[in-house]
Amino acid sequence: MPQSILVFDSGVGGLSVLCEIQKQLPDYAYYYLFDNARLPYGKLAEDELISGAVSLITSVVNKLTPSLVVIACNTASTLILDELRQQIDIPVVGVVPAIKPAALQSKTKHIGVLATPGTIERDYTQTLIDNYAKGCRVSLFSANELVIIAERKLEAKPIKTMELERQLSEIQGTDIDVLVLGCTHFPLLKEEIQQIVGEKINLIDSGKAIANRVVALLSESPESRQNETDVRAWYTTQSINQALEESLTKRGFKKISPITELLG
Ligand code: DGL
Repeated sequence: MPQSILVFDSGVGGLSVLCEIQKQLPDYAYYYLFDNARLPYGKLAEDELISGAVSLITSVVNKLTPSLVVIACNTASTLILDELRQQIDIPVVGVVPAIKPAALQSKTKHIGVLATPGTIERDYTQTLIDNYAKGCRVSLFSANELVIIAERKLEAKPIKTMELERQLSEIQGTDIDVLVLGCTHFPLLKEEIQQIVGEKINLIDSGKAIANRVVALLSESPESRQNETDVRAWYTTQSINQALEESLTKRGFKKISPITELLG
């Protein structure tokens, strides 16, 4: 049986994590599941997010039997990891905002965390700050609109610079020297964000660290890799627009289908 990896997000954000994993493990089969019917997760009520995501991921895991699942969504990772681990018996890798490396890297000892409202307000993030950013001032910026802008980018729609500037305005003029992209959608806008905040601020995300973790967990049985890579995506809306389908095809997806085709 070839090894496969399931990557989950609310939308296209998880692609920023997927491509880091693919760089290190190009021969695995990849299944990308995105719950776009309920996007943005950053504004979803906690109960609704947990029950919907856990049951969706569990059903897909039972059907596709991947070797491992990556919750490539900070917002979902703040809530669902424990419950999901109780439901399925494969490794579950979550995403954590890169607060620890940011604090280590910062010279001004002032870092920023840019994330969805959900991630910003949860204890999960505060615990990371308490544990790993001692001696640093940490400014939190909630940026829900950036999720939508990243979605639009993958739909080949133009990015409105003014909208982006508005979302990032509070960061400008501070002495922040490291900004954590604490939502997997944001690395998809890295160049645009960098242009607005300037070169003095280093942008940092968790993609590579997640890929390293996946490699470490899978490295015990490399003999079961497959030669022909199978890369598929499933979404929870009934359809997606053609531009998004083209973007996904360009990123190597061979089949892109509504989840009903898999789960009925
Ligand atoms: N990509 C997700 C994250 O990392 C969230 C996007 C959303 O709000 O749906 O937090």
